[in-house]
Amino acid sequence: MRNLESELKRRMVTLAEEKGLPVPPGPLPYYPLSGLHGMDILPVAVLIARITLWMGHRQMIETHGPAEDPLPLAELSNLRRADALRSAWPATDVIIGNPPFIGDRTIRRKLGDDYVEWLKKTFRVGVIDLSGYWFRRAAEQMEPGQRAGLVSTNTLRENKHRQGSLDYVVQRGGVITDAVSSQKWPGDAQVHVSITNWVMSPEDPPTEFTLDGEPVSGITTQLREGRAGWQPKRLAANKGRSFIGCQPTGDGFLLGADEAQKLLEDPRNAGRVRPYLTSRDLANSVDSAPTRWIIDFGTMPLEDAASSPALLDIVRLRVRPEREQAGGDLARLWWQLWRPRPAMRTAIADLDRYIVCTLTGKRFFTAWQTGLTCPSNAVGVIAADDDFTMGVLSSRAHDAWAWWWSSTMKSDLRYTPTSTFQTFPFPTAPSSRARDRVAEASRELHERRSALSRERGIGLTALYNLYDDGAFEDLHDRHRELDEAVATAYGWPVTIAQDGDELVARLSALNEQIITGEVDYSPWGP
Ligand SMILES: C[S@@+](CC[C@H](N)C(=O)[O-])C[C@H]1O[C@@H](n2cnc3c(N)ncnc32)[C@H](O)[C@@H]1O
Repeated sequence: MRNLESELKRRMVTLAEEKGLPVPPGPLPYYPLSGLHGMDILPVAVLIARITLWMGHRQMIETHGPAEDPLPLAELSNLRRADALRSAWPATDVIIGNPPFIGDRTIRRKLGDDYVEWLKKTFRVGVIDLSGYWFRRAAEQMEPGQRAGLVSTNTLRENKHRQGSLDYVVQRGGVITDAVSSQKWPGDAQVHVSITNWVMSPEDPPTEFTLDGEPVSGITTQLREGRAGWQPKRLAANKGRSFIGCQPTGDGFLLGADEAQKLLEDPRNAGRVRPYLTSRDLANSVDSAPTRWIIDFGTMPLEDAASSPALLDIVRLRVRPEREQAGGDLARLWWQLWRPRPAMRTAIADLDRYIVCTLTGKRFFTAWQTGLTCPSNAVGVIAADDDFTMGVLSSRAHDAWAWWWSSTMKSDLRYTPTSTFQTFPFPTAPSSRARDRVAEASRELHERRSALSRERGIGLTALYNLYDDGAFEDLHDRHRELDEAVATAYGWPVTIAQDGDELVARLSALNEQIITGEVDYSPWGP
């Protein structure tokens, strides 16, 4: 394997030199054909793409020798027929594309009324050149540090098209590093295209930019030289506080209540049979209580797990076979949850309670859990036990921020701790009075919500469906009080406490002030 890697490196260096391209620093990438995913709505385009790759592969082998065997032909079923705007995109390291260009005034004629209405409802930016929606999908899909490059019509540099596409990429943390502002499409189509390459929320801000082949100081969303608008960055003080819960990978770890209770009668199993909180429980069960149980050995070695023989037998019987089939670490560490999240465990170890939140859904919900509970990987975890932090996270300000960072697909929320929590500026210097007011409002809100949930035997989703229809006036009052207390803690007028756009704009400006050192930020103390 090592030999193959160094051989590949040698060939890629030769290739770069032959083409007169700079040799990229660091380990050189090698992409097996099977690692490519792609979509086109036309079956024939999918076939052409596959054949082109096979032919290109053959040519590369002729020039540079075999990396993968040319025959049998690499399996390319990941290049498939699909409407890329209506389908989930696979997780990838890099996104490249040449999406279709259809002008805003032609889309309705070409794709029909239903499609246009669907675009409007889904992306909520009106009708822009069709290629613009691919920028949104890509931006929503990308993790920090990932890269994308898309061709589009050059119209995307202008007005509403830009606002719906390139501005959106930059608002979500994208930095355009390399672009062609406008060039005539080399094919038959009478269009001028732009090419935009960007990196999403890079840890270290890029220092080199290339526009139309020339080095520049930065690239705006109009694809001109200059600095783009502020892209919120991750705040150092927020680091190490937000997590995703544990991922079992093996249904055999899960237990029903009766079996769990029985196992808990044996003191050797204490702390290793834990209530298991799923996102469904958080949103739908009374008081967001877990409804299932899980066998959890944390990161302990097998010899320690063996001191709970009954639990280990269950895992051996119900989990190990499928883990062994999967191979690798899944097989080697078969008794452990696949992602036991040791950093999360350490962060909440000394807390009597911690905050959980939904990662997807129609609403962003927060709730308290105790250390007994094992949160699932569909649940977000915030390592904080104080009512002030909970109050800010349950307020309109944070909700607006969460939605702004979220996917617009299916109009559901997608909360990602890396982009949403880590960039969110908490009030920087609230007076102790303002802090207490937020804490008090949070306590009252959560107590009232729990009481209503228990009284009615319903979870948060059902409760807030009634709330939306006008029920629970006192809960409305408590939310309003919390939102105003939070706005005050930021030093903002209470008149903006419900104004999502204004809150996001102010939070974004505050993020910039913190990052540039204009404002001190240590919301949880130094
Ligand atoms: C500009 S061409 C690019 C073709 C090819 N990918 C290339 O780079 O040469 C745009 C392609 O998008 C495809 N297309 C149009 N609407 C699509 C959609 N909703 N989802 C996926 N592909 C679509 C068209 O069939 C066409 O092949």
